[in-house]
Amino acid sequence: MDRKDIIDSQDYGNKAEAFEAFDDIPTNPHLGNTIGDVIQERYGRRDFLRGSLGVAATASLFGATALTAPKQAAAAGRQSRYVFDELQWGNDVTHHIAEGYNADILVRWGDPITADAPDFDVMNQTPEAQAQQFGYNNDYVGFAEVAPGRGMLCVNHEYTNEEVMFPGLGRQDRAGFEGMTREIVDIEMAAHGGSVFEIVKGDDGAWALNRDNPANRRITANTPMTFDGPAAGHPRMRTSADPAGMTVLGTINNCAGGMTPWGTYLMAEENFHGYFWTDVVDADGKPDLSLQQEAAQMERYGVPGRWYAWGQFHDRFNIDKEPNEPNRFGYIVEVDPLNPDAMPIKHTALGRFRHEGAETTIAADGRLVIYSGDDNRFDYQYKWVSADPVTEENSHFGSALLSDGTLYVARFDADGTVVWLPLVHGQGPLTAQNGFDSQADIAIDTRLAADALGATPMDRPEDAQPGPNGTAYLMLTNNSRRAPEQVDAANPRAKSRFGHIIEIREDGGNHSATRGTWSILVLCGDPGIEEVGAMWNPETSENGWFGSPDNCAFDSAGRLWISTDQGRNWGRTGKSDGLYALETEGDLRGHSKLFFRCPVGGELCGPYFADESKTLFLAVQHPGTDGTKDFAGFERESTFEDPATRWPDFDPKMPPRPSVVVVTKADGGVIAV
Ligand code: FEO
Ligand code: CA
Ligand code: CA
Ligand code: CA
Repeated sequence: MDRKDIIDSQDYGNKAEAFEAFDDIPTNPHLGNTIGDVIQERYGRRDFLRGSLGVAATASLFGATALTAPKQAAAAGRQSRYVFDELQWGNDVTHHIAEGYNADILVRWGDPITADAPDFDVMNQTPEAQAQQFGYNNDYVGFAEVAPGRGMLCVNHEYTNEEVMFPGLGRQDRAGFEGMTREIVDIEMAAHGGSVFEIVKGDDGAWALNRDNPANRRITANTPMTFDGPAAGHPRMRTSADPAGMTVLGTINNCAGGMTPWGTYLMAEENFHGYFWTDVVDADGKPDLSLQQEAAQMERYGVPGRWYAWGQFHDRFNIDKEPNEPNRFGYIVEVDPLNPDAMPIKHTALGRFRHEGAETTIAADGRLVIYSGDDNRFDYQYKWVSADPVTEENSHFGSALLSDGTLYVARFDADGTVVWLPLVHGQGPLTAQNGFDSQADIAIDTRLAADALGATPMDRPEDAQPGPNGTAYLMLTNNSRRAPEQVDAANPRAKSRFGHIIEIREDGGNHSATRGTWSILVLCGDPGIEEVGAMWNPETSENGWFGSPDNCAFDSAGRLWISTDQGRNWGRTGKSDGLYALETEGDLRGHSKLFFRCPVGGELCGPYFADESKTLFLAVQHPGTDGTKDFAGFERESTFEDPATRWPDFDPKMPPRPSVVVVTKADGGVIAV
């Protein structure tokens, strides 16, 4: 299935579903020999082809303790480290939180975030208004605390769903974009990017946005930004508007992200390819790249994706006119939340790919480490390690810690070793002979360099979170395209619809190590259906198991929390997306409990713990859109006029609005304690 089939297919009722399907198109041609020999070698392939894991394989994956743990635990009177009464699973028009907690709407699409911003008028939206109001499809949430109970909230706006944002428009990619105007495109561009604004905790314990802080700002697809690192100023980064290759307008498709140890905000540019256009097409209407100088890398990155009509109104998004513009997206962007005059920086040293996130930690040896997945079927897991340790002097916006260092890509060996392969010019195959003239080429063509190193093609690496003691947790969300002969030890299921979570333990408990061990924490999906091949701690209830892990976070007690994005596949579990508390330690390792669930059609992003874990920020993205054909009693595609839910306002004149939810305990205490 290619892009045109997806758009034409009635199976994908809205933009969110189509995006999920677009992700399903693998662009990695290097899928050769991961395959059956590895499985044969370690587990015996038959078990995997049956779709469920044999005992021998399970023991290899989970370790003998995990298998025998439940019985020992029962004897020892095991207790979850997460203290709350589990929520009942389900799916309806609103959100739900475990008893004893408040889940309040903090900010919604269109809410004014600056002192001068106009009130939201959904029937008469303008680009100018949108550029001062909270954007669409909130994804990552971070918090830069300034003082107890006060700080800057940093929120990514990943993309826009025109069919529920604008009256009478419907799905424009399906309609050949005929309803699009420059005005609508400019509203979309202003609804992308990020929002940075002050929030304050009142005496009653409730958080509120302070519009009057002059540091509040929107970052959009038009905000001027600069580059640093090896690709900055390189000829491949130059365009007619920017002959120096040093200034780019905007950031797009900002999915997950991270906060640096010094409190700056990292925005990951994920599906940037979707915003680029070409008018040069073949007889089937597919892009014809034969005249493009950089056709090979464009193909590997899926450029031009033509998900949006921006290239029809802005030449820089049309590769026929500006072939280098796509080389200026797909990076990690750093923003100083306290200084609205500081121009955001795209750090090219961290590579160019469909960056899902950028979660940071300080390694045992003092260096800065950032984990970042490339979210595409059969793409890779990366890690950045700074050259120098973090010090007081280099802990600032624009620090060299984000330009001097080494980018690595992961190879997961069948013996349980993870090897971090350095993406360094001149080392191994990364030479001019193979098309990499300098480190700039590696920064721009990171996927090609990782292909050359033999990295392991994964089941869509979403968020990756460093944890305590040199651990990291990788969300592999799903991969329905993995054929039985493409199964490997780290991606052990063919046609994986529900995904899995890998735990890494870096050597010596040091996040900057170049080797470590890996194991599978859980294989997601319904443990009651043998064919699914799920693996949870057996104490997990019917409420607790989940599918398609996407984002994750640690609370201040070092406990892991997972949020899900099942997309249109939610009908396969019957569960809305939600937030789960997942044990990583002890007898209950692999045990999961449901804490929060989304309204129908929404995916859950964030999560972010702040305020010594007395506050939890969650982002409900695209409510009312995904998989509404499976929503009993609705069973149709949502539109602006007729959505599956009008969460959170439930105002008959208002469509559903992506919103940030703030969770606090009713008694004001630490969450889940
Ligand atoms: Fe934007 Fe990979 O989720
Ligand atoms: Ca995501
Ligand atoms: Ca995270
Ligand atoms: Ca997602």
